[in-house]
Amino acid sequence: MTEPLVSLRNVSAGYEGRTIVSSVSLDVHSDDFIAFIGPNGGGKTTIVRLLLGQLRPMSGEVRFAPSLRIGYLPQVNDVDLRFPISVTDVVLSGQLDGSRLFPSRAERARALELLRFAQLEQYKDKPLGSLSGGQRQRVFLCRAIMGNPQLLILDEPVTYMDKVAETNLYKLLPELSKQMAIVLVSHDIGTISSVVKTIACVNGTLHYHATNKISEEMLSVYECPIEILSHGVIPHRVLKTHNF
Ligand SMILES: Nc1ncnc2c1ncn2[C@@H]1O[C@H](COP(=O)(O)OP(=O)(O)OP(=O)(O)O)[C@@H](O)[C@H]1O
Ligand SMILES: [Mg+2]
Repeated sequence: MTEPLVSLRNVSAGYEGRTIVSSVSLDVHSDDFIAFIGPNGGGKTTIVRLLLGQLRPMSGEVRFAPSLRIGYLPQVNDVDLRFPISVTDVVLSGQLDGSRLFPSRAERARALELLRFAQLEQYKDKPLGSLSGGQRQRVFLCRAIMGNPQLLILDEPVTYMDKVAETNLYKLLPELSKQMAIVLVSHDIGTISSVVKTIACVNGTLHYHATNKISEEMLSVYECPIEILSHGVIPHRVLKTHNF
């Protein structure tokens, strides 16, 4: 098997001396498509930040493949919406590494192609701040893909999206996963299990399941009743589907 893109070995991490996740081991390989599920506050974004190299582990080891390109869609886009940047320039910023000021013609063409794909072409010259939350989320998705990453990390990407945008995303992801590894943080357990390959339950630690089925067996092995999955102190709920 090839070397993993990112490897976490027995990692503990947290903030200001407080441990949030511990004993986390995970290898992300180039053909992986992993869902992170788990309750609010369980540590999903914390592990994402370890994978990004944004957060140093308190103990354990984090290793990255050399010159790894990662595309990242943050959970909350807390950009200053008054900042005068156009939609196209936001997408292009996913490519520029700080060593160049101006994008190439090919990069511009790719940014426009992505915006067309995300059905945002009509907004290409608009300031980012004039878009809706879901439209902005799609702009940031284009940005994350722009640099042709080897690993794409999407932290709750559909939060602001409407059904059409969400469906489009879930159609796009299997295509993207042929070209790059994907880590998808989501609470939408029903939908993701049909697109991802494997599932990691995050709740103070990480339980990796090499399957995309949330099976009775998986639940029983980890002593998780169907309604409430509990891998630690904080239970996470699997909500039943609504019929309305
Ligand atoms: N920058 C920070 N400084 C201090 N504590 C933090 C920081 N970021 C997160 N935490 C704490 O770490 C814990 C885990 O947060 P994290 O964002 O990893 O959870 P999550 O699983 O992504 O939750 P959600 O489903 O709500 O996104 C929470 O208790 C949170 O308050
Ligand atoms: Mg989070």
